Amino acid sequence: KVGELPQEERPQLGKRVNEIKERLLALIDQRSQELKIKELEESVAAERIDITMPGIRPPRAQFHPINQVLQEINDIFVSMGFKIATGPDIETDYYNFGALNFPPDHPARDLQDTFFLKREGLLLRTHTSPVQIRVMQKQRPPIAIIAPGKVFRCDADVSHSPMFHQVEGLLVDHNVSFANLKAVLNAFAQQLFGKETQTRFRPSFFPFTEPSAEVDIQCIFCRGSGCRICQHTGWIEVLGCGMVHPAVFENVNINPQEYSGFAFGMGVERLAMLKYGINDIRLFFEGDIRFLSQF
Ligand code: PHE
Repeated sequence: KVGELPQEERPQLGKRVNEIKERLLALIDQRSQELKIKELEESVAAERIDITMPGIRPPRAQFHPINQVLQEINDIFVSMGFKIATGPDIETDYYNFGALNFPPDHPARDLQDTFFLKREGLLLRTHTSPVQIRVMQKQRPPIAIIAPGKVFRCDADVSHSPMFHQVEGLLVDHNVSFANLKAVLNAFAQQLFGKETQTRFRPSFFPFTEPSAEVDIQCIFCRGSGCRICQHTGWIEVLGCGMVHPAVFENVNINPQEYSGFAFGMGVERLAMLKYGINDIRLFFEGDIRFLSQF
């Protein structure tokens, strides 16, 4: 609107307008400076690291409960002087059955119990006992070994899994007796389950031991008074054992007149279920972190 003013007033107005413009620019400059500083202060405050705050724990892996119990079992026997031996999961009929004195028509050789492979004569071992044969073929007495590992049976319910773990034991020397076997297994049970743990040896049968026994430990849930888990007997079966059968010694060229020995085989899942009070074996193999992280 400068053009609408009389000529003599124009320079005055121009001057005034310039002054106002200078002032506004100065104010804007000052304010934007203040805002920049404020913004910087706020972002420094928001991003400040408190080095005294506790950190966030990263999730940490741990051993599977079966491996924890397996480790514990191994440690107990190693402390008694046993060495650890291993054998293959895929076995031949000879190592799994024949050399262990199973007759050709024994029910364990049935398809219902054993996973046979397509290749003639091969199978998934049904127990860790074949490791006894493999060790005795290579080593002369004295022998004291345990053999931990996976075994496979055509079986599945709350207390049976088609794959589970066993620990085999074998001790061969001069004058080894059934009393020695009882002493070793009692000491083992007391170390795994506590000093007051009672065991019970029941006569049983295995083709590769004579005499044979099954060993129960007093039910740890009811301390022997009888409950659902021990089927009101007060006892839970945890292993099979016996004195090495002379026919087995002959199969590996050890003289049964000169040497005697004992063997045992225990179910690791059974022992772990007892130790931790777990009533369904399938929990071990479902891989649920909520279950596994409790151990
Ligand atoms: N191999 C037997 C089983 O799986 C257990 C056993 C091992 C029994 C050694 C006697 C001696 O049932």
